[in-house]
Amino acid sequence: MRIVLVGPPGAGKGTQAVRLAAELKIPHISTGDLFRANISQQTELGKLAKSYMDRGELVPDSVTIDMAKDRMEQKDAEGGFLLDGFPRNVDQAEALDGLLETEDFKLDAVLDLEVPEDEVVKRIAGRRICRNDSSHVFHVTYSPPKKQGVCDVCGGELYQRDDDSEDTVRTRLEVYHTQTEPIIDYYKAQGLVVTISSLGPVDEITKRALEALRREK
Ligand code: AP5
Ligand code: ZN
Repeated sequence: MRIVLVGPPGAGKGTQAVRLAAELKIPHISTGDLFRANISQQTELGKLAKSYMDRGELVPDSVTIDMAKDRMEQKDAEGGFLLDGFPRNVDQAEALDGLLETEDFKLDAVLDLEVPEDEVVKRIAGRRICRNDSSHVFHVTYSPPKKQGVCDVCGGELYQRDDDSEDTVRTRLEVYHTQTEPIIDYYKAQGLVVTISSLGPVDEITKRALEALRREK
């Protein structure tokens, strides 16, 4: 399957993407994680991305689309993928359509995670991620690690993302409403959008998502 995951910052996209990708046996492609890996490796792309991410703004399409394209062209993504955080505006959605068209592929669904803004704020405030791999995600109260400050998956150090400060989160939410939400209408016109509530226990949301995706197949 080829799936796009969309939802506001803190909706639980990363949390669900890891589970859904494992269940559906497709790679989880997160542009946020790809940028964070570049930042920790101190690449030129990482330096550029960090300046935008720290302000809560989108990284320019020119570099984002190429990075996403390179990842989607890797061998493990031949049979499908779960995109998390891409596309993030209508120009990126059009670029993705173009890429898929040249391969004669189509998206199967756009899974839209709905969650009220006050919940998003609580989730982001308590989020801690792993230094080794930013897809290892915890929450100080909702999903605490077994040992405080230590990643359950790999033993890495947990820390708070630089862009999870209150001010930056406000900008990220605004960017979501003005630039990313319009892709929901773009995909609605293609009949691809499945909306589910992202409130409740993580496992229940995964179940909800899988049921909704199976209905779309
Ligand atoms: P990105 O990394 O994609 O961040 P985001 O979209 O803001 O989403 P988040 O990672 O904040 O949240 P999430 O929905 O994954 O939630 P999570 O599962 O962690 O992007 C970061 C930046 O990179 C952007 O601002 C931009 O600058 C740049 N960027 C990335 N892609 C780009 C693109 N395509 N174009 C341009 N720029 C781009 O969950 C949040 C917390 O809640 C966690 O602590 C988790 O444990 C907890 N939680 C999850 N589910 C539940 C639940 N059901 N109940 C209780 N707690 C829960
Ligand atoms: Zn880890």
